[in-house]
Amino acid sequence: MNIKEIVKDIFYVGVNDRVKHRFEALWQLPYGVSYNSYIVAGNEKLALIDTVCIEEVRQYFNNIDSIASDRTIDYLVVNHMEPDHSASIPEIVMAYPDIRIVGNSKTIEMIKGFYHIDGPDRYLEVKDGDSIDLGGRTLRFHLTPMVHWPETMMTYVEDARVLFSGDAFGTFGALNGAVIDRDMETDVHISEMYRYYSCIVGKYGRFVEKAIQKLAALPLSYICPTHGPVWNEKITEVVELVARLAAYKSEPGVVIVYGSMYGNTAEVAEMIAREIAALGIKRIIMHNASHSDMSCMITDAFRYSTLIVGSATYSMRLFPEVESFMNAMETREIKNKVFATFSNFTWAAGAVTGKLKEYAERMKLPVSASLLVKQSAGASTPVEVKEFALQVAEAMKAMEEA
Ligand SMILES: Cc1cc2nc3c(=O)[nH]c(=O)nc-3n(C[C@H](O)[C@H](O)[C@H](O)COP(=O)(O)O)c2cc1C
Repeated sequence: MNIKEIVKDIFYVGVNDRVKHRFEALWQLPYGVSYNSYIVAGNEKLALIDTVCIEEVRQYFNNIDSIASDRTIDYLVVNHMEPDHSASIPEIVMAYPDIRIVGNSKTIEMIKGFYHIDGPDRYLEVKDGDSIDLGGRTLRFHLTPMVHWPETMMTYVEDARVLFSGDAFGTFGALNGAVIDRDMETDVHISEMYRYYSCIVGKYGRFVEKAIQKLAALPLSYICPTHGPVWNEKITEVVELVARLAAYKSEPGVVIVYGSMYGNTAEVAEMIAREIAALGIKRIIMHNASHSDMSCMITDAFRYSTLIVGSATYSMRLFPEVESFMNAMETREIKNKVFATFSNFTWAAGAVTGKLKEYAERMKLPVSASLLVKQSAGASTPVEVKEFALQVAEAMKAMEEA
């Protein structure tokens, strides 16, 4: 059991998942993941904040029972409807038949759609800034649409300065005993936060920025997200990290992603890396798209300033794994990057270069350098690669100085 009183009468009742291989059936979970839920107790009423995935519902009820004991739960506040946080709502309603579900109009519509829960007085619909009184303790609701889904909101406990932030400031990595950042080493959770943000929330940077601005004036002692540690000591660090990613601000570094069947494109990728290293650039990360995990490629592309994409020509298209990667980049509206491409063909000279150019145009990324190799690296390739590397380095310098 993993239960913790965060401040007086505010409890962690979430669960760990060390079984699921891929979050959202996509993203690997080498350190597991936690689904966080909380109980806020007032003098008169008890509120449960979000629920957990259905697979862990038994542990979840044990956690709730050990806190609520013989008190009933009066309110279920639903900050976010993604099923990893909402799938246990029907079980909660069954266990507490008089519970009122607190959400905004979009939340309520989604609960009805997903779980077919209805009935008189079942819902308490809230608008931005509304509050409920638990008896000596107020919960105030701040709507933060598209900080993942349209219904997302955050709940603030005024007297305790605790913010239940939903997926914002969440991260992968189960909770290994401790719940609050000050009681654990957080290096894995912080590093996983880059991957969580880039893969899960990445597309919605402008909404995340809006939410951060909107809540900037709230005094905060604790941020309680729906995944990962409760933030206390590291509030400033994690808010700055997320704000940076939301603004698509990156750190200097080159990420080379390539797709190669028979090694010719890979050979050029290695040549490019060597030339860039020779120019004194130290942070170079290479991903063979057939080998690297997609979430790692997305994360590195998000985090670092320069993205170089190379592909063999495959039936007149990009190599499939490279195409998936570029789709992930476009979906996440990747911007503020130095972008360069290289390609390899045997009979269709412009196919891959053209496809990468189309992505770049749609994503409004200027192509700083482009290299085309027929079949295998030849006598002219080293000179062309040198020139390519120089163009990339110049573009990086220009970006840093801008
Ligand atoms: C399944 C397959 C499809 C290919 N389709 C094309 C193509 O449409 N146009 C082209 O110019 N070359 C095509 N090629 C040739 C490759 O692009 C070429 O052999 C290239 O050098 C492979 O690079 P690699 O060694 O990095 O895999 C194809 C090769 C394979 C195996």
